[in-house]
Order: sequence, then C-alpha cells, then structure tokens
Amino acid sequence: MSGVLVSAGELEQFVIEVLTGAGVPGDDAATTARLLVAADARGVSTHGVIRLIPYHQRLVGGVVRPDPTLATIADSGGFVLLDGDDGLGQVSGTRAAALASDRARQQGIAAVGVRNSHHIGMLGLYVEQIARAGQIGVVMSNTAPLMAPTGSAERILGNNPLAIGVPRAAGGDPVVVDLALSPTSFGKVQEYARRGEPLPPGQVIDVDGNWITDAQVATKTGTMVPIAGHKGYGLALAVELLAGALTGSGTLDRVSSLFREPMLPMAAGHLTIVIDPDAATGDAAAFLAAVERVCEVILAAQPLPNVDGILLPGMPEQRSRERAEAVGILLAENVVAELTRFAETAGVALPSMEPA
Ligand SMILES: NC(=O)c1ccc[n+]([C@@H]2O[C@H](COP(=O)([O-])OP(=O)(O)OC[C@H]3O[C@@H](n4cnc5c(N)ncnc54)[C@H](O)[C@@H]3O)[C@@H](O)[C@H]2O)c1
Repeated sequence: MSGVLVSAGELEQFVIEVLTGAGVPGDDAATTARLLVAADARGVSTHGVIRLIPYHQRLVGGVVRPDPTLATIADSGGFVLLDGDDGLGQVSGTRAAALASDRARQQGIAAVGVRNSHHIGMLGLYVEQIARAGQIGVVMSNTAPLMAPTGSAERILGNNPLAIGVPRAAGGDPVVVDLALSPTSFGKVQEYARRGEPLPPGQVIDVDGNWITDAQVATKTGTMVPIAGHKGYGLALAVELLAGALTGSGTLDRVSSLFREPMLPMAAGHLTIVIDPDAATGDAAAFLAAVERVCEVILAAQPLPNVDGILLPGMPEQRSRERAEAVGILLAENVVAELTRFAETAGVALPSMEPA
C-alpha cells in the first residue's frame, strides 16, 4: 500500500488535540486516541484515526456527549449494567473492560453491559488487552442496520462485530478472533469506494439479491449479507439480543448510523464478558498448556503450496503492529487526504509525515 509514515505518539497527540478541542476530558481523549491509533498500527485502518472525522462531527453537533456520566443502572455482582450516556464508545468500552476484568479476578467471571453507547471501534483491542492480562475476553456490539436476515435483501440487522481474546503462555501474543458478521466490515466497503475500485462479489446485494460490485452504489443502497449464510445471520441476531436487548440499548433500526444519521444519538449497546482462568478453574497453568497445544498443532498444519504458513487469528494484526512499532504508522494516501481536509476545518495541525 502506498502512503505515508507517521509516529504513533504524534498521531495520538493530534487525536487528543481534536477531541479535547471538542470538550472531551484529557484522560478520555487519550484513551480514545490510543485505541484509534492502535487500530491503524494493526492495519485495521477502517477503525483507526479516520473514524475521528464522524466522531468529531457528532461531538460538535451535540449528539455525542463529550463528558458522559457512566452511571451504574444495575449491579448483581456477576453482571453490571452501565449507561454510556451517549459518550464515546471507546470511553465506555474501556471502562466496561476494566470493570469486568477486576470482577473476574475476584469471582472467576463477570459481564458488563453498556447501553446508550457509541461506535466502539476495533473490538479486538479490548479483548487483546484483557488477554494480555491473562484473562479471556469477549466483546460484542450491535451496529446500525446494514445487513439482511437470510432470505431478505432489507437492511434490518447490524453486522454486529464480535471479538474473543485468549491469552497465550509466557506472554505470547494472544489469540484474537475479531470479526464483523458480514464478510467484511462496512468500513472496507467504504475504502473500495474511496479508492474507486470495484467491490468483489459476495459481500453486498441489491434489492433483488444480486451482488453489487460498484462500491459507491454498495455504500449508498446496498445491503450486506451475513457470513456463512444462515449461520452468520444467527450469530448477528444473538449479538443483537445480547448487546442490544439485554443491555436495554437500541436494537435494529433504533441504532443510528455513524455516517448516514450524524444528528441522531447512536444508542448502540455493548457486552463485555471476562473469564479469569485462574479464579474460574484454579489452574491457569493447565489452561495455558492446553491453549499452547491447540495453537502448536494448528500452526504445524501443512500449508497449501501457494500459502506461506498457517496463522492464528490475531497474527496478521500483531505482525502489522510490530512493523508499525519499527517504522511508524502507515496511513494510505486517501486517508491522509481526508485527514488533511478535516485537520484544516478542525484547526489542528496534522503531525509530520514521510513517504512510506
Ligand atoms: N465498532 C463497530 O461497530 C464495528 C463494526 C464492524 C467491524 N468492526 C471492526 O472491524 C474490524 C475488521 O473486521 P473484519 O470482519 O473485516 O475482520 P477481518 O476479516 O480482517 O479479520 C477477521 C479475523 O480473522 C483473522 N484472520 C485474518 N486472516 C487470517 C488468516 N489467514 N488466518 C487466521 N486468521 C486470520 C484476523 O486476525 C481477525 O481475527 C474488526 O476489528 C472489527 O472489530 C467494528
């Protein structure tokens, strides 16, 4: 990918200045900046700093509250329900992960639901952090409708992302399964549109159920299909019920779109579940040994002739992170162009960049 390289620290500082300028307290701005830049570092640029643009639009439009009060609505010990108060999803998502992690350390397992939240970004980052602390993390969120239930072409369901992180022994990079329940994220469809490239079939359908390959049309009028047909539909429905219905947040059409409905509170819901292997089983070492065996057997699978090697989920993003730590964050030309226009209107200087 052609683009530019930028220092992670300077990019975070840019995000912090934009967010604090919109009234977000320094700590919350720093949390959000860290998560957005971490997504770019992991090559998930669709959920990186580019998302600052709609976040900022919603903050200055008064739809996202810069300094939410994350009130506790219910607390039964095993399950805590927070009200996100229409604040940034990164703020409530981080709070939920920390709370679930602390509780799980005491009692083996804990879940924290958040209602009235906003876009939570790259879900894998939350479960990666939980897994690096030796625990198993599960995070899910509902999104605005983009996807059809099997047999329909109507945008009824979100593509409701789900992430699961599992620790590896001896500080190894965790297993991180992090996916939208559509074949790709909507952000990637938007990237095809931004680059003016055709969208591969198999992702977005028109009203008659035919594949749309014009990415511009796909973002405007297309409907995403679930992964693996009725199985992905079932999983997306389950996330809708757990992250949306259980938390008392918006569901289906009551969750607004980050892009199409900038003046409506998003009302997305999140659910974070943490299991502490030591507190839950009394033998984290046995669990980690079993995880190692599973990972080793899988990694030793014979690759097909045209494949370099077998990967575990999370590895592509960790490799990207290692490259970013060595040389800086790679931003694509089209992302830089959008950020440059945005930085001018927001009145905050972009960090220095060098060609990749
Ligand atoms: N906040 C939201 O509302 C929202 C909505 C949708 C998606 N997202 C985010 O968008 C991001 C992208 O989602 P996606 O569905 O396009 O993910 P993806 O298809 O890029 O990756 C899915 C998973 O597959 C793994 N993977 C990729 N190649 C692999 C290989 N060769 N072998 C083994 N594992 C491999 C990845 O590590 C990842 O865990 C995610 O971070 C997700 O959290 C967020």
